Amino acid sequence: MPPTLDPDLRRALAERVRYCHEMGIYDFYRRGPCVSESHTVLSTGAELVDPSPTQEELRQEMAAKKSAVLTQPAVRNVFRVITPNSEEAVTDPLAALNLIREDLGPDCTRCKLHKQGRKQIVFGVGNPRADLMFVGEGPGADEDLQGEPFVGRAGQLLNNMIKAMGIRREDVYIANIVKCRPPGSRTPERDECETCSPFLMRQIAVIKPKVVVALGAVAAKNLLAMNAPMSELRGRFYDFIPSGFRSSDPSWQGTKLAVTYHPAFLLRDPRQKGEAWKDLQMVMRYLGLEPPKKPAE
Ligand code: URA
Repeated sequence: MPPTLDPDLRRALAERVRYCHEMGIYDFYRRGPCVSESHTVLSTGAELVDPSPTQEELRQEMAAKKSAVLTQPAVRNVFRVITPNSEEAVTDPLAALNLIREDLGPDCTRCKLHKQGRKQIVFGVGNPRADLMFVGEGPGADEDLQGEPFVGRAGQLLNNMIKAMGIRREDVYIANIVKCRPPGSRTPERDECETCSPFLMRQIAVIKPKVVVALGAVAAKNLLAMNAPMSELRGRFYDFIPSGFRSSDPSWQGTKLAVTYHPAFLLRDPRQKGEAWKDLQMVMRYLGLEPPKKPAE
Protein backbone atom coordinates (compact mmCIF):
# COMPACT_ATOMS: atom_id res chain seq x y z
CA MET A 1 0.00 0.00 0.00
CA PRO A 2 1.40 3.45 -0.82
CA PRO A 3 2.22 5.44 2.32
CA THR A 4 -0.13 8.35 2.96
CA LEU A 5 1.54 11.63 3.72
CA ASP A 6 0.63 13.61 6.74
CA PRO A 7 -1.25 16.74 5.51
CA ASP A 8 1.29 19.07 7.13
CA LEU A 9 4.17 17.24 5.51
CA ARG A 10 2.33 17.23 2.20
CA ARG A 11 1.83 21.00 2.49
CA ALA A 12 5.48 21.50 3.43
CA LEU A 13 6.60 19.37 0.49
CA ALA A 14 4.30 21.30 -1.83
CA GLU A 15 5.94 24.48 -0.62
CA ARG A 16 9.37 22.95 -1.16
CA VAL A 17 8.37 21.99 -4.70
CA ARG A 18 7.18 25.52 -5.36
CA TYR A 19 10.46 26.85 -4.03
CA CYS A 20 12.30 24.48 -6.40
CA HIS A 21 10.17 25.72 -9.28
CA GLU A 22 11.18 29.25 -8.41
CA MET A 23 14.80 28.07 -8.53
CA GLY A 24 14.18 26.58 -11.99
CA ILE A 25 14.00 22.94 -10.89
CA TYR A 26 10.98 21.20 -12.40
CA ASP A 27 11.52 17.49 -12.56
CA PHE A 28 11.39 15.30 -9.48
CA TYR A 29 12.07 11.60 -9.48
CA ARG A 30 10.94 9.08 -7.01
CA ARG A 31 13.93 6.96 -6.09
CA GLY A 32 13.23 3.23 -5.98
CA PRO A 33 9.89 1.48 -6.21
CA CYS A 34 8.79 2.24 -2.69
CA VAL A 35 8.99 5.14 -0.28
CA SER A 36 9.15 3.98 3.29
CA GLU A 37 7.33 5.97 5.91
CA SER A 38 10.54 6.85 7.66
CA HIS A 39 12.73 7.72 4.67
CA THR A 40 11.63 9.97 1.83
CA VAL A 41 14.03 11.22 -0.84
CA LEU A 42 13.55 14.05 -3.30
CA SER A 43 15.86 14.48 -6.27
CA THR A 44 16.62 18.02 -5.12
CA GLY A 45 18.87 16.52 -2.52
CA ALA A 46 16.42 17.06 0.30
CA GLU A 47 16.57 13.88 2.25
CA LEU A 48 13.88 13.43 4.84
CA VAL A 49 14.80 10.88 7.42
CA ASP A 50 12.48 10.37 10.37
CA PRO A 51 9.40 12.42 9.53
CA SER A 52 8.80 13.97 12.96
CA PRO A 53 11.82 16.26 13.29
CA THR A 54 11.81 16.94 9.55
CA GLN A 55 8.20 18.01 9.62
CA GLU A 56 9.03 20.32 12.48
CA GLU A 57 12.00 21.77 10.58
CA LEU A 58 9.86 22.23 7.50
CA ARG A 59 7.11 23.81 9.55
CA GLN A 60 9.60 26.31 10.95
CA GLU A 61 10.95 27.01 7.50
CA MET A 62 7.43 27.54 6.21
CA ALA A 63 6.46 29.75 9.11
CA ALA A 64 9.42 32.00 8.30
CA LYS A 65 8.37 32.21 4.67
CA LYS A 66 4.65 32.57 5.37
CA SER A 67 4.58 36.35 5.43
CA ALA A 68 6.14 36.53 1.97
CA VAL A 69 4.00 33.91 0.28
CA LEU A 70 0.31 34.28 -0.41
CA THR A 71 -0.51 31.29 -2.54
CA GLN A 72 0.69 27.77 -2.87
CA PRO A 73 0.13 25.68 -5.95
CA ALA A 74 -2.51 22.99 -5.84
CA VAL A 75 -0.15 20.06 -5.65
CA ARG A 76 -2.28 16.97 -5.31
CA ASN A 77 0.60 14.54 -5.39
CA VAL A 78 4.13 15.82 -5.18
CA PHE A 79 5.40 12.59 -6.71
CA ARG A 80 3.02 12.86 -9.66
CA VAL A 81 4.64 11.67 -12.87
CA ILE A 82 4.96 14.78 -15.02
CA THR A 83 3.08 14.07 -18.23
CA PRO A 84 3.23 16.53 -21.11
CA ASN A 85 0.15 18.65 -21.71
CA SER A 86 -1.69 17.93 -24.95
CA GLU A 87 -0.74 21.31 -26.46
CA GLU A 88 2.99 20.73 -26.06
CA ALA A 89 3.11 18.71 -29.27
CA VAL A 90 1.42 21.49 -31.25
CA THR A 91 3.28 24.42 -32.77
CA ASP A 92 0.35 26.56 -33.87
CA PRO A 93 -0.61 28.66 -30.82
CA LEU A 94 -4.28 28.93 -31.82
CA ALA A 95 -4.55 25.15 -32.09
CA ALA A 96 -2.68 24.82 -28.79
CA LEU A 97 -5.06 27.24 -27.06
CA ASN A 98 -7.99 25.25 -28.44
CA LEU A 99 -6.52 22.11 -26.90
CA ILE A 100 -6.25 23.82 -23.52
CA ARG A 101 -9.85 24.98 -23.87
CA GLU A 102 -10.88 21.41 -24.70
CA ASP A 103 -8.96 20.11 -21.72
CA LEU A 104 -10.86 22.50 -19.49
CA GLY A 105 -14.04 20.88 -20.76
CA PRO A 106 -17.37 22.35 -21.77
CA ASP A 107 -18.59 22.63 -18.20
CA CYS A 108 -15.65 22.63 -15.80
CA THR A 109 -16.57 21.49 -12.28
CA ARG A 110 -13.08 21.55 -10.77
CA CYS A 111 -13.88 24.24 -8.22
CA LYS A 112 -16.98 25.40 -6.40
CA LEU A 113 -17.56 28.35 -8.75
CA HIS A 114 -19.34 26.01 -11.16
CA LYS A 115 -22.23 25.69 -8.72
CA GLN A 116 -22.31 29.30 -7.61
CA GLY A 117 -24.15 30.84 -10.49
CA ARG A 118 -21.58 31.17 -13.24
CA LYS A 119 -23.19 31.09 -16.66
CA GLN A 120 -20.15 30.12 -18.69
CA ILE A 121 -16.40 29.72 -18.67
CA VAL A 122 -14.56 32.86 -19.77
CA PHE A 123 -11.43 31.38 -21.29
CA GLY A 124 -9.56 34.35 -22.72
CA VAL A 125 -9.52 36.36 -25.90
CA GLY A 126 -7.11 37.92 -28.34
CA ASN A 127 -4.06 37.31 -30.43
CA PRO A 128 -2.58 33.85 -29.77
CA ARG A 129 0.84 35.28 -30.71
CA ALA A 130 0.49 38.47 -28.68
CA ASP A 131 3.60 40.20 -27.36
CA LEU A 132 1.49 41.67 -24.60
CA MET A 133 -0.93 39.87 -22.34
CA PHE A 134 -3.20 41.33 -19.65
CA VAL A 135 -4.36 39.21 -16.73
CA GLY A 136 -7.27 40.32 -14.57
CA GLU A 137 -8.96 38.81 -11.57
CA GLY A 138 -12.06 37.02 -12.77
CA PRO A 139 -15.11 37.58 -14.93
CA GLY A 140 -17.81 39.96 -13.75
CA ALA A 141 -21.49 39.92 -14.70
CA ASP A 142 -20.97 41.26 -18.24
CA GLU A 143 -18.12 38.88 -18.95
CA ASP A 144 -20.14 35.96 -17.57
CA LEU A 145 -22.97 36.84 -19.96
CA GLN A 146 -20.81 37.41 -23.03
CA GLY A 147 -18.12 34.78 -22.40
CA GLU A 148 -15.32 37.28 -22.98
CA PRO A 149 -13.02 38.96 -20.45
CA PHE A 150 -13.15 42.70 -19.85
CA VAL A 151 -16.25 43.65 -21.80
CA GLY A 152 -17.98 45.68 -19.09
CA ARG A 153 -17.11 49.15 -17.77
CA ALA A 154 -13.67 48.07 -16.59
CA GLY A 155 -13.19 46.54 -20.03
CA GLN A 156 -14.00 49.85 -21.72
CA LEU A 157 -11.30 51.50 -19.65
CA LEU A 158 -8.87 48.68 -20.42
CA ASN A 159 -9.62 49.18 -24.12
CA ASN A 160 -8.78 52.89 -23.74
CA MET A 161 -5.55 52.02 -21.94
CA ILE A 162 -4.59 49.62 -24.75
CA LYS A 163 -5.45 52.26 -27.36
CA ALA A 164 -3.35 54.84 -25.53
CA MET A 165 -0.41 52.45 -25.90
CA GLY A 166 -0.81 52.68 -29.67
CA ILE A 167 -2.15 49.16 -30.14
CA ARG A 168 -5.55 47.49 -30.53
CA ARG A 169 -7.42 45.12 -28.27
CA GLU A 170 -7.10 42.45 -30.99
CA ASP A 171 -3.30 42.72 -30.79
CA VAL A 172 -3.09 41.63 -27.16
CA TYR A 173 -4.35 38.60 -25.26
CA ILE A 174 -6.63 39.07 -22.25
CA ALA A 175 -7.39 36.49 -19.57
CA ASN A 176 -8.14 36.21 -15.88
CA ILE A 177 -6.81 34.31 -12.89
CA VAL A 178 -10.15 32.47 -12.61
CA LYS A 179 -12.32 31.67 -15.60
CA CYS A 180 -15.68 31.62 -13.85
CA ARG A 181 -17.52 34.49 -12.25
CA PRO A 182 -17.34 34.44 -8.45
CA PRO A 183 -20.81 35.06 -6.98
CA GLY A 184 -21.58 38.77 -6.65
CA SER A 185 -18.19 39.35 -8.31
CA ARG A 186 -16.45 38.74 -5.01
CA THR A 187 -12.69 38.23 -4.95
CA PRO A 188 -11.82 34.70 -6.05
CA GLU A 189 -10.75 32.49 -3.18
CA ARG A 190 -7.40 30.83 -2.88
CA ASP A 191 -8.56 27.32 -3.75
CA GLU A 192 -10.40 28.69 -6.80
CA CYS A 193 -7.27 30.51 -7.99
CA GLU A 194 -5.09 27.48 -7.39
CA THR A 195 -7.45 25.19 -9.27
CA CYS A 196 -7.81 27.48 -12.27
CA SER A 197 -4.35 29.01 -12.61
CA PRO A 198 -2.67 25.94 -14.20
CA PHE A 199 -4.82 26.62 -17.27
CA LEU A 200 -3.72 30.25 -17.32
CA MET A 201 -0.10 29.12 -16.98
CA ARG A 202 -0.56 26.89 -20.00
CA GLN A 203 -2.11 29.77 -21.96
CA ILE A 204 0.87 31.97 -21.14
CA ALA A 205 3.29 29.19 -22.09
CA VAL A 206 1.57 28.81 -25.47
CA ILE A 207 1.25 32.52 -26.28
CA LYS A 208 4.80 33.27 -25.11
CA PRO A 209 4.21 36.99 -24.66
CA LYS A 210 7.11 39.37 -24.12
CA VAL A 211 5.24 41.07 -21.30
CA VAL A 212 2.41 40.07 -19.00
CA VAL A 213 0.63 42.91 -17.21
CA ALA A 214 -1.09 41.86 -14.01
CA LEU A 215 -4.15 44.03 -13.48
CA GLY A 216 -4.64 44.61 -9.78
CA ALA A 217 -3.48 43.01 -6.60
CA VAL A 218 -5.29 39.68 -7.00
CA ALA A 219 -3.69 38.99 -10.37
CA ALA A 220 -0.29 40.23 -9.21
CA LYS A 221 -0.23 38.27 -5.97
CA ASN A 222 -1.39 35.08 -7.62
CA LEU A 223 1.04 35.27 -10.51
CA LEU A 224 3.99 36.29 -8.38
CA ALA A 225 3.04 34.30 -5.27
CA MET A 226 3.92 37.38 -3.27
CA ASN A 227 1.89 39.12 -0.65
CA ALA A 228 2.88 42.76 -0.88
CA PRO A 229 0.95 46.01 -1.29
CA MET A 230 0.44 47.40 -4.78
CA SER A 231 2.80 50.27 -3.97
CA GLU A 232 5.60 47.70 -3.65
CA LEU A 233 4.52 45.45 -6.50
CA ARG A 234 4.30 48.20 -9.14
CA GLY A 235 7.06 50.09 -10.87
CA ARG A 236 9.37 47.26 -11.91
CA PHE A 237 9.58 44.20 -14.11
CA TYR A 238 9.70 40.68 -12.76
CA ASP A 239 11.11 37.71 -14.63
CA PHE A 240 8.21 35.33 -14.94
CA ILE A 241 8.14 31.69 -16.01
CA PRO A 242 4.69 30.07 -15.93
CA SER A 243 4.79 27.40 -13.27
CA GLY A 244 5.11 23.90 -14.67
CA PHE A 245 6.57 25.25 -17.91
CA ARG A 246 9.38 23.19 -19.42
CA SER A 247 10.74 24.79 -22.52
CA SER A 248 12.26 23.11 -25.50
CA ASP A 249 12.17 26.47 -27.26
CA PRO A 250 15.39 28.43 -26.74
CA SER A 251 13.70 31.58 -28.09
CA TRP A 252 11.31 31.80 -25.14
CA GLN A 253 12.51 31.23 -21.62
CA GLY A 254 9.84 33.27 -19.89
CA THR A 255 8.43 36.74 -19.93
CA LYS A 256 8.60 40.06 -18.12
CA LEU A 257 5.76 40.73 -15.75
CA ALA A 258 4.60 44.19 -14.73
CA VAL A 259 1.91 45.12 -12.25
CA THR A 260 -0.56 47.96 -12.57
CA TYR A 261 -3.88 49.01 -11.10
CA HIS A 262 -7.02 47.14 -12.05
CA PRO A 263 -9.23 49.24 -14.37
CA ALA A 264 -12.16 48.78 -11.95
CA PHE A 265 -10.03 50.39 -9.24
CA LEU A 266 -9.16 53.23 -11.62
CA LEU A 267 -12.87 53.79 -12.23
CA ARG A 268 -13.31 54.19 -8.48
CA ASP A 269 -10.20 56.34 -8.04
CA PRO A 270 -9.40 58.09 -11.34
CA ARG A 271 -6.59 60.06 -9.64
CA GLN A 272 -4.47 56.91 -9.94
CA LYS A 273 -4.74 56.84 -13.72
CA GLY A 274 -1.47 58.78 -14.04
CA GLU A 275 0.31 56.11 -12.01
CA ALA A 276 -1.17 53.36 -14.19
CA TRP A 277 -0.04 55.26 -17.26
CA LYS A 278 3.53 55.28 -15.87
CA ASP A 279 3.34 51.48 -15.57
CA LEU A 280 2.11 51.15 -19.12
CA GLN A 281 4.81 53.51 -20.39
CA MET A 282 7.42 51.25 -18.79
CA VAL A 283 5.87 48.35 -20.72
CA MET A 284 5.77 50.41 -23.93
CA ARG A 285 9.46 51.29 -23.63
CA TYR A 286 10.29 47.62 -23.24
CA LEU A 287 8.17 46.64 -26.24
CA GLY A 288 9.36 49.60 -28.33
CA LEU A 289 5.84 51.00 -28.63
CA GLU A 290 5.14 54.64 -29.40
CA PRO A 291 1.89 56.22 -28.23
CA PRO A 292 -0.28 57.30 -31.18
CA LYS A 293 0.21 60.88 -32.32
CA LYS A 294 -2.67 63.10 -31.23
CA PRO A 295 -4.53 64.55 -34.23
CA ALA A 296 -3.72 68.26 -34.65
CA GLU A 297 -6.47 70.41 -33.11
N1 URA B 1 -12.58 42.32 -14.02
C1 URA B 1 -11.67 41.34 -14.21
O1 URA B 1 -10.75 41.17 -13.41
N2 URA B 1 -11.78 40.59 -15.28
C2 URA B 1 -12.73 40.76 -16.17
O2 URA B 1 -12.75 40.01 -17.14
C3 URA B 1 -13.66 41.79 -15.96
C4 URA B 1 -13.58 42.55 -14.89
